Order: sequence, then C-alpha cells, then structure tokens
Amino acid sequence: MTADHRIVLSSDHTAIALRQTIAAHIAAQGWTVVDIGATTAESTHYPAHGEAAARRVASGDCRFGVILCGTGQGIMMAANKVRGIRCGVCADTFSARMIRQHNDANMLSIGVRVVGEGLALDIVDAFLAAQFEGGRHATRVEMIAALER
Ligand code: RB5
Repeated sequence: MTADHRIVLSSDHTAIALRQTIAAHIAAQGWTVVDIGATTAESTHYPAHGEAAARRVASGDCRFGVILCGTGQGIMMAANKVRGIRCGVCADTFSARMIRQHNDANMLSIGVRVVGEGLALDIVDAFLAAQFEGGRHATRVEMIAALER
C-alpha cells in the first residue's frame, strides 16, 4: 500500500469517539487508516497530537491527515506549524471541498464540539472527493510555501 492510500487520524481526548467513527467510515471506502490519537479520556495536549499527525503527512508517510479537538482550532494551529502542511478547520462541506480545490489542503481539522457526527462524515467525504484545481491556485499555494522558506 502506498502513501496515496494512507490517511493519518489524530485527536486529543475530546474527540476519540468521533475519530473512531471517521476511521471506520473511511476504512470502508478503502483508505488505510493510521490512527495515532489519544486513546483514553485522560486530558491530553492537542498540539502534540496535531504535530504528530502533521509529521506523518509532511514526511510523505500519509497522503492526508484528519485531526480533531474540541473546536478543531487548536490542533489545526499546531499542525500548520509543520512545514508543508496546509490544514483548514471545516464546519461545512463547501469549505471542505474548497480547501482541496483552491488551497491544496493536505489536512482537515474538525471540532467535535462544533459539528455532529453526520455532518462530520459529510465534511470528510467532501474533502476526500475534491481535487486540487492547480492553475492560478498553484501560484497562490506556492506563495504560501514561500512563507516557510
Ligand atoms: C480541550 O478542552 C480543548 O481546549 C481542545 O480540545 C481544543 O478545543 C483546543 O483548541
């Protein structure tokens, strides 16, 4: 199995159940799930979970990452500190599609305290189904990359 079929999933303690639901959902679609998130209700630190998932994507080990915390915001902020990561928080399917089409996002963040299970699964599906459009958007994504150099 190549990295093209691998998705890393991670979350802090707030989102274990939704992460497991997402894992089963995308595994049923044929993705290989690399689940590295918190496993107990004990309070953990979202930056560590965001960084760990981001490094799997940045290294090429996984094609995409889906990360979760209470709001999706903190873990997204941590992931975006890793060079090469473009992660957006989404609470709607339009944004989930657009961050792939226009921003070539390689990670998606979801807030378990923001969206319900059904919408979360639709957001994941929208993200994974969309393709980067390139063209003028590639110029802009390259400008983001230049900020990291
Ligand atoms: C944990 O209580 C919470 O702060 C965390 O899951 C996340 O929402 C931070 O952005």
